Amino acid sequence: MAIPEDIINEIKYRNDIETTISQYVNLKRRGKNLVGLCPFHSEKTPSFTVYPESASFYCFGCGAGGDVFSFTSLMENLDYIESIKLLAEKSGVALPQDGYDDSMQRLKNTVYDINRETARFFHNYLMSPDGKWALDYLTGRGLTVSTIKHFGLGAAPDSWDALINHLKSKGFTISDMLTANVIGKSQKGTYYDRFRKRVMFPIINIRGNVVAFSGRAMPGEDKAGGKYVNTADTPVYKKSANLFGINFAKNHCSEQIILVEGNMDVISLHQAGFPNTVAPLGTAFTSEQANLLARYTKEIVLTLDSDAAGQKAVKRASQMLENTGLSVMVVLIPDGKDPDEFIKKNGPERFRALLKGAVSDIEYKLLSAAGDIDINTDDGRLKYLAEAAAVIANEADIMTRDIYIGRLCDKYGVSRTALTAKVDELRRRNKRAEQKKEISDIIRPPLTKDDINPERRRSPKGTAAEETLLAVLLQHPDFYTEAKEKLPPDKMITSLNRRIYEIIIETLDSGRQLDISVFAQRLMPAEIGFLVSLQNGDKAGKNAKTVLKDCIEVILEEDIILNANNKAESSVDDWAKDLKNIIERKSKGN
Ligand code: CTP
Ligand code: MN
Repeated sequence: MAIPEDIINEIKYRNDIETTISQYVNLKRRGKNLVGLCPFHSEKTPSFTVYPESASFYCFGCGAGGDVFSFTSLMENLDYIESIKLLAEKSGVALPQDGYDDSMQRLKNTVYDINRETARFFHNYLMSPDGKWALDYLTGRGLTVSTIKHFGLGAAPDSWDALINHLKSKGFTISDMLTANVIGKSQKGTYYDRFRKRVMFPIINIRGNVVAFSGRAMPGEDKAGGKYVNTADTPVYKKSANLFGINFAKNHCSEQIILVEGNMDVISLHQAGFPNTVAPLGTAFTSEQANLLARYTKEIVLTLDSDAAGQKAVKRASQMLENTGLSVMVVLIPDGKDPDEFIKKNGPERFRALLKGAVSDIEYKLLSAAGDIDINTDDGRLKYLAEAAAVIANEADIMTRDIYIGRLCDKYGVSRTALTAKVDELRRRNKRAEQKKEISDIIRPPLTKDDINPERRRSPKGTAAEETLLAVLLQHPDFYTEAKEKLPPDKMITSLNRRIYEIIIETLDSGRQLDISVFAQRLMPAEIGFLVSLQNGDKAGKNAKTVLKDCIEVILEEDIILNANNKAESSVDDWAKDLKNIIERKSKGN
């Protein structure tokens, strides 16, 4: 794995972290660092921090962190090498043609190839005489052949091995087919086609690659496997970060994107002249999907079902969308129909009228806050106004709040002063709750370090010392010779910290700079985040040299204690000897 270091540095230099991240996140200066709302999880108060000095970032909320390449790979769903390539391209740095290990890239390309071939196979089958049952179904649902071709729809034959045999004949290996998740392995060890007798929807990413499939059972035949069978996450596909239809919608979204529930809704709206439609892929809407949408448009129209589940989904989705700065409108489709059914029954013009009548998210919430409350009684009106005040209190913009307060006062005959006071009180209460949460998050971060270092339990004290030691070395690389001399890597207690320590020694031994990029290629994203937090934290303190000595002491002690514990059957004498060792060490150190 070696793109030459000077080239990596050059790319880094030309894509400075502040500018790069600012393209995705609204950053505000805080001291010498910058903060913003984390693009990798949903939050209201910024815990995402950019450190220009060390060219790194870290989110205290979700633990994501790394350098400009890690950021790009998380954001664009690329692996590390791919993001180096992308930023190189963006800044006009030429990469050497070969000489670096791109086995992950090769695997991804193979998966793309398998997916493309599989989509072709399903499509050809759909269009063949044998696939008539599926074509009849799709045309029966009102899709034209041209729409079917446009979306590359297909069908999986009623067979356990038709696809396996086809892909074999094209030279693909079983192992790669498994990686692409188009086939499965039975308990007996045999392989089978995952999609059988289903209408197939290829899922295509923004770059036009087939990344996954969604297969719908024929009506009444969804007993085995459920109504939909979907591709699991693969090296080229992360369900929670993709949207069905985004490949088309991204070219038609200057005004708005319509968010619907199902694949069929996307296709049928597209056919009716609304190509700016997308759907989440069989998951609850995620903040990653919200971020993806925020890159393409300013406004989202939610058209979710008007049943209870649909309304809950609206609430969840609209919060995530608003957190990314998108404005959210809500369309209620009459009679609890989905957009597909509505458009088939009423035509595109009626749907366009529905879109025109879309209400803002706050109006929608004010409408639905009424719920079962009987607003014809004084009691009911008061109840409703309390609910409504809570809705308005959540609105960040003071003008918007004022407008809705005015409307409610007119409608329900309460005084403006009273309602404004109520809203302000609720805002203060929300604010206090948020501050409390913030403080408790700082005291007890939501992501405990144990998520990253599973071996901490073995020796919490030793692990803490290891972390401080790493923090010192990251901030004072010149101390490393001393550390190396006194503390060989195999004395490190937990394997994660040992790995990091080894990388530090190896890098500095070879005379290279200790840069986050060195780690980013060899650690998992969450581990890099942890490292960045060490690098930018204040564990090292003012007396780093003394701190380093103390840490080494503690680690060596813990090592002895652990080893003694491990030798459960060792004699009492051995125990005593070990303990004496510890005491001697201590007195020598002082
Ligand atoms: N879905 C899923 N697995 C299921 C049911 C649903 O993955 N067992 C996902 C699919 O992506 C589907 C979406 O949830 O498109 C919405 O489900 P549903 O409304 O049941 O499907 P439609 O796409 O509307 O299909 P149809 O109109 O053919 O019933
Ligand atoms: Mn439907």
